Amino acid sequence: MLPHHVTVGPPDAPALVLIHGFPFSLEQWRPQLDGLEDAWRVVAYDLRGHGQSATGPGPLFIEDLVDDLVELLDHLGLESACLGGLSMGGYIALRAVDREPSRIHGLVLADTKAGADDNAGRVKRAQAAKTVRAKGMSAFADGLLPALFPKERLDPPTSAVREVRAMIEATSPEGAALALGAMASRLDLRERLADIRVPTLVVVGEDDTLTPPAEAEALVAGIPDATLVRLDGAGHVSNLEAPDAFTDALRAFLERMHPRT
Ligand code: MLT
Repeated sequence: MLPHHVTVGPPDAPALVLIHGFPFSLEQWRPQLDGLEDAWRVVAYDLRGHGQSATGPGPLFIEDLVDDLVELLDHLGLESACLGGLSMGGYIALRAVDREPSRIHGLVLADTKAGADDNAGRVKRAQAAKTVRAKGMSAFADGLLPALFPKERLDPPTSAVREVRAMIEATSPEGAALALGAMASRLDLRERLADIRVPTLVVVGEDDTLTPPAEAEALVAGIPDATLVRLDGAGHVSNLEAPDAFTDALRAFLERMHPRT
């Protein structure tokens, strides 16, 4: 299914494709779209059931989301791209580089991890899917925001908190429920990290408690050519809480991959 997407920057520049977290939308990447469009072709898209992309039938698997990504790359005429994902976006990016290595020449993994859910995590996903269908996205946001942001940023809410709430509330409950199922059934890719053959940038917010810095360190230890950037003053949604530092890290990484003479 071709996802709804936006593209900015010079059409002939090297491409960076960005995948948002759960249950957000491509709007999550607005600071990076604005900050990189002078020199890079940046594409951001809405996962199925999020933002303006259709929900489609269930059940949903990470494999379907990788298929959608490949369809998008084909649609854009991109034989290969640098791929970046935050959290659930990172789960998809990791599976994509594992399954479709010829389509990806650089990887950005932000606030994410390679392991799968454990049994307790799967039970929580199933309960969350029921809650979201029964109570809707506003109630779901009330429960999720304290896991995404340190307490002191919730009251009064920072601009990042307000933006994240707006994205969560705009997601379709069915889309969120299906995404929870896809995350619950995702593969454990820890053993596959050593096979990643592309330069990789790992970014983590110092205050991320959902996928803490130790998870980022494990990614860097497992991936042969990986570097770590830790962002002060940022939690799980690090690209919105430290937008300039995140964009600078992306720019430095892109410049390293595509040196300009
Ligand atoms: C996300 O931000 O995408 C989610 O926190 C990922 C997850 O629930 O595992």
